[in-house]
Amino acid sequence: MAENSCDFVSILITSCKGGVGKSTITANLALALARRGKRVLALDCDFSNRTLDLLFGCEDAVLYDLFDVIAGRASADKAILSDPRAEALFLLPAPFLGERESESPDQTFTERFGAVLSEAAESVKADFLLIDTPGSADALLTLAAQNTDMALIVTGHHPAAIRGAEKTGILLDTRGVPKQKLIINRFDTEAVVDGRRPGINTIIDMTRTPILAVIPEDRGLELGQEAGRLYTESAEKATARAFDSLAARLCGEQIPLFAGMPRRLRRRLVER
Ligand SMILES: Nc1ncnc2c1ncn2[C@@H]1O[C@H](COP(=O)(O)OP(=O)(O)O)[C@@H](O)[C@H]1O
Ligand SMILES: [Mg+2]
Repeated sequence: MAENSCDFVSILITSCKGGVGKSTITANLALALARRGKRVLALDCDFSNRTLDLLFGCEDAVLYDLFDVIAGRASADKAILSDPRAEALFLLPAPFLGERESESPDQTFTERFGAVLSEAAESVKADFLLIDTPGSADALLTLAAQNTDMALIVTGHHPAAIRGAEKTGILLDTRGVPKQKLIINRFDTEAVVDGRRPGINTIIDMTRTPILAVIPEDRGLELGQEAGRLYTESAEKATARAFDSLAARLCGEQIPLFAGMPRRLRRRLVER
């Protein structure tokens, strides 16, 4: 694990599986942390499917991106956008890949990546750097893993997503990321209670990863995203609470996994 020299926590939001909610969690967790008074920089490291600018609703404001900073065409503070939803919420967008630029990191990129991350985080005095990653085990994931303090592995409760999370944990082990936590996203309580989907204990067993949060399936969150809205503007109460609790746990607070859920449901979930 690479220790960053400055005082920010670098967190990878990852899974080798696409479509499980990595970008959704990155954007909304960034907002949740910023609402707690933390200074947060979200970095879009998914070059093939850059999404964070859309989720933050600021795609028209992007002028420079990570490639420009790495190539020295722009300083980090020129490329970083600030989000009005919180006092200190920032985004460093992913590159728009032109025909000549490959999405695999070249030598300059590999050499400069860690330094640029630190420069970007320092330029906004970040407490947290959240790195959104591609849904594949490529060189970019390896590079990001070398520059992180911990990884949040995102899964759903479909078998392919769980298998993807398990594989991601193994990959991160080999890349030296010892601190890994699981987020079960798009959690459908009813489907677990009536036996159509595996329960939390089963998913923890299968992925062998300690759990940090469960984010509900939320159609409002999904629809809101299409209009550049984040959880405070679009999500159900339970989803908002889940993001707030996740942020609180990352800030060191002890919050029960199902804070706010009726005891009847909690018991049935735990028993499954
Ligand atoms: N908790 C959720 N409830 C409902 N839809 C969700 C949730 N999380 C993610 N989604 C939807 O799932 C799709 C994939 O999410 P995304 O964050 O882009 O995944 P990834 O970054 O892993 O590829 C998007 O349409 C998103 O709106
Ligand atoms: Mg994504």
